[in-house]
Amino acid sequence: MNRTADWALSLAPHIERRMELSPTLRINERVRAMWADGQEVYHLGFGESRFPVHPKLAQALRENVHHKSYVAAQGIPELREAVADFYTKHFHLPTTPDRVMVGPGSKALLYTLLTVLQGDLLLPTPSWVSYEPQARILGKPVRRIPAIPQEDHALKIDALRHTVATSEQEQHILLLNSPNNPTGQMMGADLVNQLARFCRQEQVTVISDEIYGLAGHGDVLHHSMARAFPEGTVVLGSLSKHLSLGGWRLGVAVAPEGPAGQQLIQALRMVAGELWSCVAAPIQYAAVTAYGDDPEILAYIQECTRIHALRTRYLWQQLTALGIRCSQPRGGFYLFINLDRWAPQLAVRGIRTSTQLAEHLLEHYRLATLPGEAFGTPAPEMSLRLSTSYLDMESDDQALALLELFRSGMDPQHILQEHHPSMNQAIEQFRRFVLDLDSVPLP
Ligand SMILES: Cc1ncc(COP(=O)(O)O)c(C=O)c1O
Repeated sequence: MNRTADWALSLAPHIERRMELSPTLRINERVRAMWADGQEVYHLGFGESRFPVHPKLAQALRENVHHKSYVAAQGIPELREAVADFYTKHFHLPTTPDRVMVGPGSKALLYTLLTVLQGDLLLPTPSWVSYEPQARILGKPVRRIPAIPQEDHALKIDALRHTVATSEQEQHILLLNSPNNPTGQMMGADLVNQLARFCRQEQVTVISDEIYGLAGHGDVLHHSMARAFPEGTVVLGSLSKHLSLGGWRLGVAVAPEGPAGQQLIQALRMVAGELWSCVAAPIQYAAVTAYGDDPEILAYIQECTRIHALRTRYLWQQLTALGIRCSQPRGGFYLFINLDRWAPQLAVRGIRTSTQLAEHLLEHYRLATLPGEAFGTPAPEMSLRLSTSYLDMESDDQALALLELFRSGMDPQHILQEHHPSMNQAIEQFRRFVLDLDSVPLP
C-alpha cells in the first residue's frame, strides 16, 4: 500500500499563510534561470557585496581549520573581546566582552532577539525585507510607521508617536537601520537624539541594525543609536557587508549596558544553545582577525566602501538625470527610486503596483529590481530598490579585476564609464523605459 499519498501533516496556520520565499531569493533564482537560458539580465536585485576575501582572513581561516569541538554558545572569549574593542573604537560605543553575543549571521541573531523580547515590532517604512517575515513567523504583531517618497521616506517622530499611541500592546520594539537598506539614507545626530528621548520616555526597546555602519559614503557620519540610548539599544552587525563575507555567517549583537543587557545575553545564550549550539569554530577564530585592529584590513574595508560609494553614486546621478526621483544614497549600495510621476502612463499599461512594475521591468527591459512592496511600502507606490553590488562583479574574477582597476590609480569616472558594461547598459535600459513611458498617450 502506498501510504505517502494519504499522509497529511499540519502546518501552524500562521506559517501556512506565509509560505513565500523571500523576494530577494526569489528574484535571484529567476535571474539565474534566465541567465542559464542564455538571456541577458541586469541584476540590480541582489544586495551581496562581491569583493574577494582579504588574504589575511583567508590565511586566518586556513590556520584555524583544526578547531573541531563545540565552543561557547555566546562566542569564544577572544572574539568577544575583539568585537568589544572594535565597537568601542569604531562605533564609539564603550563595550565589554560580556555584552557581545556571536551568532550565525545577524539575521539569526535578529530572529533570536524577536523570540526573547516582548512587544510588537515597530517598523519604519520602507525597511529590509526580512524584518516583517521574521516577526510573522513568530506570531508577533507588526506595526508599520508610515513615510512618504516626497520626504525621502524619512522616519518622523510624530509618525512613530502615533504608531505607539494606537498600538494595543504595552511593550514595543523599534527596529532602526542606518545606513539603510533599501533607501541608502543615514540618520543624523538630531534624529538619533530625538528617537532616544522618545524611546526612553515610552520605554521602547530598540534593535539598531548597523550592519552597514562601516559602509557610509563619507558625507554623513554614522551615529549609533546605542550612544544616545545605551540602556535600551541592542546593536546588530556582521562581517557580511563591509568585508563581503555573507557566506561565512558570522554576526554579532551588542547588548545594552547594565543588568537588562545581561539578562538579555542570558536569554540569547539559552536560545542559541538550543538552536545552533555555537557558530562554526574556525570561522570564529578567523573572525578575531576580522575584528582585530589590523591596519591592512581596516584599509581594505575603506577601499571597498569607497568603490561601493562611487558605483552607487554613479547610478544615482545617471538615473536622476533621467528625471527619476531618488534621494542621494549616503551609505551602503542601494538606491530606492520612485516612479510615481509616471503612474498614469503605467496604469495605461495595466501596471498598478510596484510588484507589477518590477515584473514589467524584468520582462521587457531585462532589469531585475525589487518592488517597494517587499519593503513594506503601499502596493500602489511605484518604488523599487536597486542594488549596485552585483553589476559587473557577477563572477569572482570580474570582482577582482574591478578592484585592481580601482587600485591602479585610473580615473574612477573613466572606470565607471568604460569598464562597467552592465551598469551602463542597465542605465540605457532605464533611459528606454522612461522614453517609452513619456510616449504613452494619456486618455
Ligand atoms: C539591513 C540588513 N540587515 C541584516 C542583513 C543580514 O545579514 P547577515 O545575516 O548576513 O549578517 C542584511 C543582509 O542583506 C541586511 O541588508
